[in-house]
Formats: sequence, C-alpha cells, structure tokens
Amino acid sequence: MAAITLEKLNKHYGSVYHAVKDVDLAIADKEFVALVGPSGCGKSTTLRMIAGLEDISSGDIRIGGRIVNHLPPRDRDVAMVFQNYALYQHLSVYDNLAFGLRNKKTPEADIRAAIDRAAGMLGLHELLQRKPKQLSGGQQQRVALGRCIVRNPQVFLFDEPLSNLDAKLRAQMRIEIKRLHAEIPTTSVFVTHDQVEAMTLGDRVVIMRDGRIQQIGTPLQVYGKPANKFVAGFIGAPAMNFIDVAVAVSPSGVTSVEAWGIKLTVSDANARALAVRNGDRVIMGVRPEHLMLGDGAPGMGFDAGVEVVEQLGSEILLETLVGNTSITAARVPAETKIARGDQVRLSVQPGRLHFFDPETELPISA
Ligand SMILES: Nc1ncnc2c1ncn2[C@@H]1O[C@H](COP(=O)(O)OP(=O)(O)O)[C@@H](O)[C@H]1O
Ligand SMILES: [Mg+2]
Repeated sequence: MAAITLEKLNKHYGSVYHAVKDVDLAIADKEFVALVGPSGCGKSTTLRMIAGLEDISSGDIRIGGRIVNHLPPRDRDVAMVFQNYALYQHLSVYDNLAFGLRNKKTPEADIRAAIDRAAGMLGLHELLQRKPKQLSGGQQQRVALGRCIVRNPQVFLFDEPLSNLDAKLRAQMRIEIKRLHAEIPTTSVFVTHDQVEAMTLGDRVVIMRDGRIQQIGTPLQVYGKPANKFVAGFIGAPAMNFIDVAVAVSPSGVTSVEAWGIKLTVSDANARALAVRNGDRVIMGVRPEHLMLGDGAPGMGFDAGVEVVEQLGSEILLETLVGNTSITAARVPAETKIARGDQVRLSVQPGRLHFFDPETELPISA
C-alpha cells in the first residue's frame, strides 16, 4: 500500500522565494495523478520533495502512511524518471537496467528475471546488448522507464519524461506509460506542463499556478467545471474564449448577455446565477469546440468576421473577430468553403457557456 499524502506542504528558496504554498493533496494507492501547470509554478519542487531530493520548509509528506519528511531518497522506495534519461553511456542497456539492482546486491538470477519482464513490457529485448548512443531518443526513454520498473518501487515519480521526444513518439510513449500502469498499477505522480498529457494520463489532474493548487479533479471535472478562469483557460486546446459581457434582464424576465455584436440568451441555470447581476459586467467563457457554424438554437447565434482559416484536414479552425474581440471556433467541417474576410454566423451549443466574476475570477453559479 503506497498512498501519498501531502499536508500543508511549503517550500521557500532562501528567505524570500515561496515556491510551493500550502499544498494539500491525497493520492490513493495505485492512483495515477498528473500534476500540471505553467513553467515555474512549483511542479518539480513538489515532486522532488516527495522524492526526498529537496528539503521541505514546512508541512508533512506521508508515503504508505509513514511520515517521510526527513527520510533520505533511498529509504522512500520511490523511482524517478526525468526529462533527461541520464543513462550510463559506457554500459549496455542490460547493464543499465541491472545497475540499481546490482548496487543492492540482488542475485544475478533475480536481476535477469526482472529485466526479462521489463524488457518484455517495453519491447527492449532486441536492444539489451546495445549502448545508449546506439538508441533513438524514444528507445533511451524506454530504457530509463525500464530502470524504474526493475526496481519494483512503491511509487513512480515522473518529471516531464516525454518533453525531449518528438510529437509522434510522445504520443506513443503516453500509451506505453498508460499500458504500463494498467499492467503494474503503482502509485504515480506525473509532472508535465502539457495539459493534453495530463488529461490523457491522469486518473486525476492537479492544476498548479504560482505554487498553489488551483483544482484537483478527474479530467472531465476540470474540463467541465473549472474552479476558476485560470483553469478554464489552461485546460482544453485550443483555449477557451473569454469575452467581456454585460448582463441584461428584460422586463419579461429573459436573461441575456451582451457585448459589441453579441447578444445571447443564457440557459435557465445560468440565468438564476446571473439575474442578481443585472447591468454588471461579467466574463463569459466558451470553448472553441462548442461554437458551431450556422444559426443554432434561438438566441445563441452571432455574426463574426473571419480573420484566419487553419485547415487541419479533419476540420477547420477559425480565428474570427467580433467587435474587437478575437473568438476561435473549432469543429468547422473541413470541406467548408470559407476564406479570410468572409462574414459567418456562429452559434453556441446550449448549456455550454461559462461565466466568471471579473474580480475574483471564480465561476458564477447558482
Ligand atoms: N534551487 C532553487 N533556488 C531558488 N529558486 C528555485 C530553485 N529551484 C526552483 N526555483 C524556483 O522555484 C519556482 C518553481 O520551480 P519549479 O518547481 O522547478 O517549477 P516547474 O517545475 O513548475 O517549472 C521557480 O520560480 C524556480 O525559479
Ligand atoms: Mg519542472
């Protein structure tokens, strides 16, 4: 059993820089958690504190119920994979895989069995006699993963292990890591700045910003119910559109939101939350994939000027201008005849609007 619990975890570098702030996180045994956020938000620092590679300033870290705050890394039973795989260049793949186990004086027969199993899982059998420089980047990263697997640790910690790979290999390795976790379910924390990686790999996703956790949830939760405007803009690609709008409740009680060139009728649920803000400005969020070409449902359409057409083959991505607001629309059918300068009608799928308070940036909900 290797649940990981972080309680009020803080890290100060020197006397002024507060890199990790009051982080509370409970990771279940065998769970795969993805820690995501922009560069410099404190992901690596958090991971390195779990590994024991960085002192903690305050708080508690538990692994398998035991407080490990001051335990050296080798006594925490964790294995870490970095962006730089750091293989021993003069050793064969086999000897790289065997290295840690030989240090622990594991019998050679047991080492062979562990390597055989890991090599089978990662497709390394035909590479075992090669030196690292005879391997591609993806193969080297697989060996680095193999080195962790053979140790059979309680916890896997990954720090952007796929960042050095090209896009195609990254996608392949993502699948391998997922398969690996299905075959040997080991508690894992995976740090990445790439929200697609976080969403596809994590049982749960933890979004960090400026040293603080913004939201913890399943991929569907953080996509569907972002905890604030930052999460709303960070999760999802292309990013959510944000538009400053004014709330208007008509004499007959219909709630709409308005901006230059836009007037949308909001759903009943949104209307309940927005009605008390009649006349106020709020931030409306709508994801590019929830904007369709055409009129759509009544009260959900607006006119937009086409600025850029990005043909992806499977679909078109449209950059449009409404008033002086840029709005991106995805999911436009690839065959659509459309060009820069065209006027188009866009419509929002009902129930897909998000609203945020302009001061607190928190969601406005009933
Ligand atoms: N050894 C260090 N000394 C001082 N500041 C550091 C040190 N390591 C990291 N930092 C700072 O702490 C912040 C968080 O860093 P890090 O955890 O590496 O971010 P991330 O992995 O999310 O990109 C950054 O602003 C970084 O500059
Ligand atoms: Mg980092």
